[in-house]
Amino acid sequence: MKIASNIRELRAALDAHKGKSLGFVPTMGFLHEGHLTLVRRSREENQLTAASIFVNPTQFNDPEDLARYPRDLPADLGKLEKEGVDVVFTPTAEELYPKDTEISINPGHLENLLCGMSRPGHFRGMLTIVSKLFNLVRPERAYFGQKDFQQFLLISKMVADLNFPITLRMLPTLREKDGLAMSSRNAKLAPAERRQAPELYRSLEMGRDLIDAGMEDALRTVAASMEYLIEHTSFEIDYFSIVNPITLEDLEKVSPSTPYLMAVAAYLGSTRLIDNILHYPPAG
Ligand code: PAF
Repeated sequence: MKIASNIRELRAALDAHKGKSLGFVPTMGFLHEGHLTLVRRSREENQLTAASIFVNPTQFNDPEDLARYPRDLPADLGKLEKEGVDVVFTPTAEELYPKDTEISINPGHLENLLCGMSRPGHFRGMLTIVSKLFNLVRPERAYFGQKDFQQFLLISKMVADLNFPITLRMLPTLREKDGLAMSSRNAKLAPAERRQAPELYRSLEMGRDLIDAGMEDALRTVAASMEYLIEHTSFEIDYFSIVNPITLEDLEKVSPSTPYLMAVAAYLGSTRLIDNILHYPPAG
């Protein structure tokens, strides 16, 4: 596995394999099984797999959140090597953001919805770094997890609107045995918070069960799920929404035959967790 810590080394490592199909898994490190599943899929579908590890400062609206973000580069490199990744890009912020950098990607109106409401600038920073990484790595395929559904939607839109020649893959969220969505941020939970954390997914499942049982009023479903979370945990809810999975606009009416995204973001102490259920009616 080649470790490229700057752009020159990255180009040299990738040029050595010119002509091979290239899959790319961009990450912010502190890797878990969710990331490794993306790597495995990339290895199945491409002759070469590259990953990046970069905690991108421009997508953190809160400097404390950036400082607290978990990091363990040696462990991450060990995991990627074991999975057979060919090239890992581990740039510095100085290299990716020279002092005169000022151009960024405008996420359009989707930036103001869901996670964008309480994380101003997050999606602009995220799209900008993803576009830079795409231009540097030039993959044929790139892999993302469903947990960050809004991120995936925005990247898909960017790829379509700006004609990036890249195929995107979104893989289902990987969960711990108790249902908690895998996330690098889980490492920040205190033991008592970790015990409560799976309730976030349970509140989503509860909402889905209500819809399956015939509750059509989306607001009533949201209210019931939020009430469950508030009564059973110390989560502070940022948002809990049932939306159209393409426009991210709130749905008034919902049913098992409607496509919907039920998405939640909530704080346990100072750790912000997100999760979602994406529902498409079975075909036929
Ligand atoms: O999902 C992440 O880890 C990050 O948002 C990404 C896509 C690597 C961009 O920094």
